[in-house]
Amino acid sequence: MNTIKHVAIIMDGNGRWGLKKKKNRNFGHKKGLLTVEKIIKQTIKNKIKYLTLFAFSTENWKRPKNEIKYLFKLLENFIKERIVEFNKNNIKLKIIGIKKFSPQLNKLLSDSEKKTKKNNKLQINLALNYGSKDEIIHTIKKLIKNKKKINEINISKSLFTEGIPEPDILIRTGNTHRLSNFLLWQIAYSEIFFEKKLWPDFNESDYNKILNKFKKIKRNFGKI
Ligand code: IPE
Ligand code: IPE
Ligand code: MG
Repeated sequence: MNTIKHVAIIMDGNGRWGLKKKKNRNFGHKKGLLTVEKIIKQTIKNKIKYLTLFAFSTENWKRPKNEIKYLFKLLENFIKERIVEFNKNNIKLKIIGIKKFSPQLNKLLSDSEKKTKKNNKLQINLALNYGSKDEIIHTIKKLIKNKKKINEINISKSLFTEGIPEPDILIRTGNTHRLSNFLLWQIAYSEIFFEKKLWPDFNESDYNKILNKFKKIKRNFGKI
């Protein structure tokens, strides 16, 4: 049976969910947060150490201003409300991506990272203003600047996910079969699960089904 150290999720389908409910896209984003909470709890129950959540991509800046504003307000409120509880539950929060937001949000995120730095039950990597191509370029530039060799070990060690094992599982909800510039280097050997349900409809039982399916997969890593 395969063990699971790291699950990465592309939480897709909020907008469509909101429209399907005859409301608006932002209504879907709000509902999507409830799924985030369920999945965090379930990840802890399954004793998984790392959970990476794709919350905002470098490409998502192309969305309408009011949607972007709403998403960041939701995020800010969520962190403000939850950070104490995260800390109590021994959860570490790490942002992957470039923190280039409002000064208050930048500070809130950095403070939250600092506050939870020593926690070790679950590490949540929140991908915010994250793009895999951007990350790889950033990494190579850093290696060149520090006169380091460009090789697999050095690249892995210098990505935003430095020190984090590669995802065993990548899940994308929302019935869309693409990677949208997420963790392209790190998922070289991940098992990928495309889920038909939209993110607000995804639940504990759907998640557990995927985890159980994964446990039985024969992973070759090039061998036979
Ligand atoms: C959530 O789903 C992803 C975020 C950028 C927060 P979407 O907003 O992409 O929802 P759909 O795919 O348009 O339904
Ligand atoms: C990927 O979803 C980004 C997040 C889930 C945050 P998108 O909905 O932005 O992806 P595309 O644009 O449809 O590929
Ligand atoms: Mg989408």
